[in-house]
Amino acid sequence: MIGSAGAILSVRRICKTFGPVRVLHDVDFDLNAGAVHALVGENGAGKTTLARIIAGTHRDDGGGMTLNGQSYRPAGRTDAQRRGVRMVMQELNLFPTLTVAENIFLEDLPRRFGVINYRLLHRRAEELMAAIGLRDLAVDEPVGNLTVGSRQMVEIAAGLSQDCRLLILDEPTASLTDRETCLLFDQIRRLRARGVAMLYISHRMQEIKQIADTVTVLRDGRIISTHAIDTLTVEEIVNRMVGREISHAPAARTAAKGRVALRVENLCAGPRVQNISFDLHKGEVLGLAGLIGAGRTETVRAIFGADRLTSGRIYLGETAKHVRIRSPRDAIAHGIALIPEDRKEQGLFLPLGVDRNIAVPNLSRLSCAGIISPAAERTLARRHIDTGAIKCAAPDQPAETLSGGNQQKVVIAKWLARDCDVLIFDEPTRGIDVGAKFEIYAMMADLAARGKALIVVSSDLRELMAICDRIAVLSDGCLAATFSRNAFSEQTINAAAFSRHTATFRTQGAAG
Ligand SMILES: Nc1ncnc2c1ncn2[C@@H]1O[C@H](COP(=O)(O)OP(=O)(O)OP(=O)(O)O)[C@@H](O)[C@H]1O
Ligand SMILES: [Mg+2]
Repeated sequence: MIGSAGAILSVRRICKTFGPVRVLHDVDFDLNAGAVHALVGENGAGKTTLARIIAGTHRDDGGGMTLNGQSYRPAGRTDAQRRGVRMVMQELNLFPTLTVAENIFLEDLPRRFGVINYRLLHRRAEELMAAIGLRDLAVDEPVGNLTVGSRQMVEIAAGLSQDCRLLILDEPTASLTDRETCLLFDQIRRLRARGVAMLYISHRMQEIKQIADTVTVLRDGRIISTHAIDTLTVEEIVNRMVGREISHAPAARTAAKGRVALRVENLCAGPRVQNISFDLHKGEVLGLAGLIGAGRTETVRAIFGADRLTSGRIYLGETAKHVRIRSPRDAIAHGIALIPEDRKEQGLFLPLGVDRNIAVPNLSRLSCAGIISPAAERTLARRHIDTGAIKCAAPDQPAETLSGGNQQKVVIAKWLARDCDVLIFDEPTRGIDVGAKFEIYAMMADLAARGKALIVVSSDLRELMAICDRIAVLSDGCLAATFSRNAFSEQTINAAAFSRHTATFRTQGAAG
């Protein structure tokens, strides 16, 4: 008989291999009812793999589990759900052509005489979205039209929509801002009070300290330790994750601002980008802050030509003549790169190898008379795999089989291999582990020191305050305020972020 008293789920000696690579080694741990159990580890440590085995979407190849004292080996996701185990996935798994409401209640669409009862469906979806703070999202909107942050909220709502005994949340807050995270934590506390056991995977250490009762550290597929959360500091948790002591200080910004690299004037594109104007200088890191739905992603997509401008002008350098950017191809030709937040849809060719993914935007440099040089491709890939610390079994490992954080590193590497003057990063550290985050900050500081101009969109305000020279705050599609480094404060930036949203939204935010 495996399992220990009080545990709702006991995992014993679980192993998993993918091809020749062993990802989990004899993993043991327990989850208790009414407790939030954090699982932390570096990118590629095996967290998602373990979570998927529990949620029935991967099969273990050794070991055993018990759920409520009975043997448990789910045949698939539905089987796990029948036993009360659900998972909110790290990689968004929604159907882009279905609406928000349909995605949330996919497995349990309300019907009347065999026909879907849309009125009831929409009401239930609205209630659920309001509970987690997205009151202003139309539930009949196709999910494919939403930004990653909103999609993440829909995924969470779907996870919360059904009753369960054990809920796994795999990096649920990776692109949420403080306000949405607060509301999610209210829901988690409510579930905890109802006795639900939760496995909470995150790279955001402060959040783990805030919400978890227990923390387990996984390193290279092995359990390193399990502790009550109060008995470890964040530093001690991180040191256990990486197996060595790491420096936490991001490289100090020495703002040697150069000439103007990019100027946008009265940019308008759809309802979420209204009259945005700003200058970006060579050697400068400009942050874009704001709540989910404020228009951060839409603004950078408009600059990059991914969404059509309705009006406004973009100037490169200190010239009086504006440039026309009608497509990403135009933007790239003008030396502007956008490293997108949605690696699955826009950033990566999933079935292709890491090497091919890095090579694709650089084909012109790697080919001669239209023929790609395999040697040049390999050299380029090797260099970026090393400098970007991408964890892969071989350069040609398909991108879809990398861990989430390592996929993100490939997206960044593929754009850095190309030499652009203006680099726009949309949520660059989404899903990236603590150590690798500092590597990315250092890489950005280095680009700025080399005279590149950087725009960084991030839902993590503390991250922006650490790495930016200035922070522009968007609120409901408008530029609410811009702060220079000596005026950074969480309170004033958050106040600017809320400033233009509607009154209902404001009271909700204040409550959260
Ligand atoms: N289908 C697969 N085929 C081959 N290797 C895989 C597959 N799925 C995962 N892996 C490998 O298993 C290892 C663990 O991946 P996993 O996704 O569990 O990591 P993780 O701890 O969740 O990381 P992250 O923090 O980046 O999400 C990685 O090295 C990954 O490349
Ligand atoms: Mg993962």
